[in-house]
Amino acid sequence: MFASRTNWNLKPNRLAEALERHKAGVRRLLDLSASNPTECGFRYDAPAIMRALCAPASLQYHPDPKGLKSARQAVSEYYIEHGERVAKDDLILTASTSEAYSFIFRLLCNPGDEVLIPTPGYPLFDFLADVNDVKLIRYPLFYDHGWHIDMHALKQAITSRTRGVIVVHPNNPTGHFTRPEETAQLNQICSANQMAIIADEVFLDFSLGAPQKSFVANAGALTFTMSGISKISGLPQMKFAWLAVSGPEAEKREALARLEIIADTYLSLNAPIQLAAPVLLQQRKPFQQQLMARVRANLGELDAQLAGNHHVSRLVVEGGWYAVLRIPATRPDEELAIELLQMHDVYLHPGHYYDFPGDGYLVVSLITPEQDFSEGIGRILSSV
Ligand SMILES: Cc1ncc(COP(=O)(O)O)c(C=O)c1O
Repeated sequence: MFASRTNWNLKPNRLAEALERHKAGVRRLLDLSASNPTECGFRYDAPAIMRALCAPASLQYHPDPKGLKSARQAVSEYYIEHGERVAKDDLILTASTSEAYSFIFRLLCNPGDEVLIPTPGYPLFDFLADVNDVKLIRYPLFYDHGWHIDMHALKQAITSRTRGVIVVHPNNPTGHFTRPEETAQLNQICSANQMAIIADEVFLDFSLGAPQKSFVANAGALTFTMSGISKISGLPQMKFAWLAVSGPEAEKREALARLEIIADTYLSLNAPIQLAAPVLLQQRKPFQQQLMARVRANLGELDAQLAGNHHVSRLVVEGGWYAVLRIPATRPDEELAIELLQMHDVYLHPGHYYDFPGDGYLVVSLITPEQDFSEGIGRILSSV
């Protein structure tokens, strides 16, 4: 009765079952996988947000497939602060970055066509690809004093069906940015093979070092750059995101014309959110200040607890919300994660959740409230 693309294994895995059981009990959970910013104790300017959602213009219907001009203008201004010029006409608003991925997959891929994706990486993409009949082909990142793209392996993975390469800038959970020399190589590879760059920049603003350059004006190959307020303003419930198209002029025009029809088919953004977009985007400043203070405090605490520990280290983090712990690979990471949950009330993601190349990796969220983070790390280190 159902399409084979939805033949997923719907049973919860052992860790998810253990988490359900824990939540049904009375013991306090130290959740070191926290990724919902609205539940991490950050302060939001509630009156400003609520006022912005009450614009009387919401009572009028003025559909625009690319999204309301005033909202696209606000996105252009976001990029001006990044030192980039993006024309309003080169932007398409979507309800989420996930929806933007779907639009791009529908634009580029016939059923069974391929898109390259970094590994380790965020697991959401497998489902997005399945529902769009796209085949994901993984290209490895390797770690050597920081993460790098294995360009040789990436080139080897290209076939006549490859339509694009995804870069997550910075990547989740490895927290590394694409280096300028890697971007130059990707431009060359993509333009030579009729492939597009699909750049996911939801964590772009969370750099621990100097601000990093966006792909939004990348012109060396057809490029789709995505972001949204889920992460940059910590407002995932508002459902406001976008994609920007850049690259060689003729390809860019054709892509935008086709995307406009895809977007027109759904018109998925509601008016109140689009009218509130300038205010919701402004909210990013106080939010990012608080978030970066949390990330730095937690990283400092992690390093203090790791000092002198010969078994556990952390990998270099350049940005984003996560840190990767390297632990002895003496048993499956999943088993350790279950034990930490059942015996020590600590929940975190084992590396295999993100497709790390083997056991020996745990991922912790740096936006976890400080007290829980410190206690949780202490319990992890005493049981590894
Ligand atoms: C790398 C990455 N891309 C996209 C998303 C999804 O963002 P959105 O809420 O805009 O769909 C996430 C969510 O965690 C993410 O980590």
